Amino acid sequence: MQNPARVQNTSEFLKKNKNEAFTPKVGIVLGTGLGGLVDAVSIQSTISYADIPDFPQSTVASHKGQFILGTLGGTPVMLQQGRCHLYEGYSPEDVCMGVRTMAAMGVTTLIITNAAGALNPAWTPGDLMAITDHINFTGKSPLTGYNHDEWGPRFPDMSRPYDGELIELAMQKATQLGIRLERGVYAGVQGPQMETPAETRMYKAVGADAVGMSTVLEVIAARHMGLRVLGISCLTNKNLPDCMQDAPLEEVIRVANLAGGRLASLIEAVATDLNDTTISPYQ
Ligand code: HPA
Repeated sequence: MQNPARVQNTSEFLKKNKNEAFTPKVGIVLGTGLGGLVDAVSIQSTISYADIPDFPQSTVASHKGQFILGTLGGTPVMLQQGRCHLYEGYSPEDVCMGVRTMAAMGVTTLIITNAAGALNPAWTPGDLMAITDHINFTGKSPLTGYNHDEWGPRFPDMSRPYDGELIELAMQKATQLGIRLERGVYAGVQGPQMETPAETRMYKAVGADAVGMSTVLEVIAARHMGLRVLGISCLTNKNLPDCMQDAPLEEVIRVANLAGGRLASLIEAVATDLNDTTISPYQ
């Protein structure tokens, strides 16, 4: 269910706890093991989720659980370091509280990251992938039930969930920085169990290039509110039906940490441009 009062209370709490003149423009969700970007931010304030009344706490040990406000390459940003997942037992509303709150704080562009398994055999763990589209395999939507019309329409368009100009910008920056950036479709599943070989075969067959346990609901909420979205997956393991391999959380975190530096440079370069380029309105 959508709960505008809860989002408003959270954003009012955060506004009271930040420098008054500061309005974030770009929201960034940091996935598993990808917190390294924080080092590149000139931080103005940090607010732990635990201090925010009625804000869902991530139960995943690798997720820190805080908002960070500051500037990245001169651009005012708001970082969500740690997120909630359906597999923790949270509702779609809880999962999307961070993104909805960032929009209520003034964010108009969302950069969302995650750790994911690569379904494409040509890709290597540690590669990055710009998400061109997604398939929501969770069976859930943050838009179920009453629609808050001030946020967005009852039947929001999903024909272009990921912004083509932002993908182009990310590709340009990746080339300049010498970073390999694949492009592909992300399948979002509930987890927490990893995929069976037959499931992996099915995700590939229906057109997915990577599979992970987050992002799709947050992107639906973001698009509902009219945010422009750039999604980047860090491919932490190969997920191939004919030679399945264990991908324990420690390995996912280890590979995400290795790729974290590249992801941070890429996001910093994109965010810097978002401060001074006028990317045309969403089309
Ligand atoms: N499957 C689902 N989620 C994941 C994976 C995977 O292979 N790797 C990282 N998150």
